[in-house]
Amino acid sequence: MHRELTKGVYYIGVDDHHTEYFENLWKLPFGVSYNSFLIVDEKIAIIELVKGPWAQEWIENIKEIVDPKDIDYIIMNHMEPDHTGALPEIAKIATNATMVYTRMASGMQESFYDVSLEQKIVDDLEEISLGEKTLKFVHAKFLHWPETMMTYLMEDRILFSCDAFGSYGALNGKHFDDEIDLRMIEHESRRYLSSIITSYLKFIQRGIQKVKNLGIDIEMIAPSHGPIYRDNPMWIVERYDRWSSPELENNCTIVYGTMYGFTHRVAYKLKEALENLDVDVKVHNIVYSDMSDIIVDTMRAGVIVIGSPTYDAYPFPPIGTFVDELEGKRFAQRPMGLFGNYGWGGGAIRKLKPRLQEDGFEVLEPTIRVRGKPNDEEEEQIRHLAKEIASKLG
Ligand code: FEO
Repeated sequence: MHRELTKGVYYIGVDDHHTEYFENLWKLPFGVSYNSFLIVDEKIAIIELVKGPWAQEWIENIKEIVDPKDIDYIIMNHMEPDHTGALPEIAKIATNATMVYTRMASGMQESFYDVSLEQKIVDDLEEISLGEKTLKFVHAKFLHWPETMMTYLMEDRILFSCDAFGSYGALNGKHFDDEIDLRMIEHESRRYLSSIITSYLKFIQRGIQKVKNLGIDIEMIAPSHGPIYRDNPMWIVERYDRWSSPELENNCTIVYGTMYGFTHRVAYKLKEALENLDVDVKVHNIVYSDMSDIIVDTMRAGVIVIGSPTYDAYPFPPIGTFVDELEGKRFAQRPMGLFGNYGWGGGAIRKLKPRLQEDGFEVLEPTIRVRGKPNDEEEEQIRHLAKEIASKLG
């Protein structure tokens, strides 16, 4: 199935309702779309492809409009296989097509697929004429990989923005912002940005600034996942701008693990103490919250608190995974609280504290180590830590 964006420009993408986890990591309760576009002019161009298993459905979409063997340009904004997996299939049919991408993408293409079609490597802001329509390529380093670019269709003022301004959630035939409940998209696009692009937040800010500096009019933003914004393209730009801002939020998020409820008890005593000080606080039990939701609530929290039982003399394993994410996603340095629970030797907090300090976080005192139920002295430490956290927030 296809949709017309404007005269001669078509949506030819597909919905994925089968993949449970994006990148095999991030839950997809509403599916995801792989957006692809076809421009029919004197030359025929495809912008973005789809994930490999959806190649046949996608080629059928193309056939509704043109014969795929007549495609002149296959424009790949990004080489990640959710965008390019169908390349070997279309290359068997569109044998006269030229692949268009950045220099770094060329090397990736060779390593991933080794497709031997002609290729054209485009510089930043280079243009290609399709006849009446012109494409301008805007390099967009690290949005989401270093080889990534966006494509701007100048006459129709459509920005094909790749992963930037994307969202989880399949489209189910509702391809445009004015056809969709944007409350769902608001949640899913923030979860998408936080789980996929958090390591590169500064590049989102730079990308937005670069597009603004080009002084181009944008009538439509067509990302590679999620809806196409034709009613209000700035709706998603403003949100991406806010969610990627380096400024931290005035709140605290507690992330804890628990095996038998003792660490849970400390987490909720701390939550109560914080609320008594009017601190805005969110809490996640690491085993029952999805990691993507935890990342949404921690990536810009003014203070993060981690609570971990000791497990085999180490932090509870899912807490270790969360700390891996803090490091991998290069969370901004900030104050951090720590509490733990143990039955005999302990070890979780002794191992977490120096690791977090080495990462540049300011570990607040007191760090709390409780054996089972907190005693009066430990209850006092919880109230003391709450005061320290409140003092770090505005
Ligand atoms: Fe949509 Fe970076 O992949």
